[in-house]
Amino acid sequence: MVSDISADTGTLRVVHEGEGVCLYNLQGDICATQDRCPHGNASLADGYLEDGTIECPLHQGVFDIRTGKPQCPPVTTDLRRYEVRVEAGTVYLKAE
Ligand code: FES
Repeated sequence: MVSDISADTGTLRVVHEGEGVCLYNLQGDICATQDRCPHGNASLADGYLEDGTIECPLHQGVFDIRTGKPQCPPVTTDLRRYEVRVEAGTVYLKAE
């Protein structure tokens, strides 16, 4: 549910088809990417959300959430993104 996304962090880790996924609430726009940082063993749901980007909590790599593109070192690999559909507050995901 959209309402399960933390109002404090703007993120929520869920499991979709066996994979960790991070949901983001970008001022009402719900987005989703892989949860595990491609640089190491960190959950992006524990990261810092700001202006449509997520900062990894481990080495502070930053990704653009809507594109999945890395924004600064040390991250160099795109995040896997998910197509998001919201119906009656329920979030449905489809891998892109
Ligand atoms: Fe995310 Fe290193 S684990 S930047």
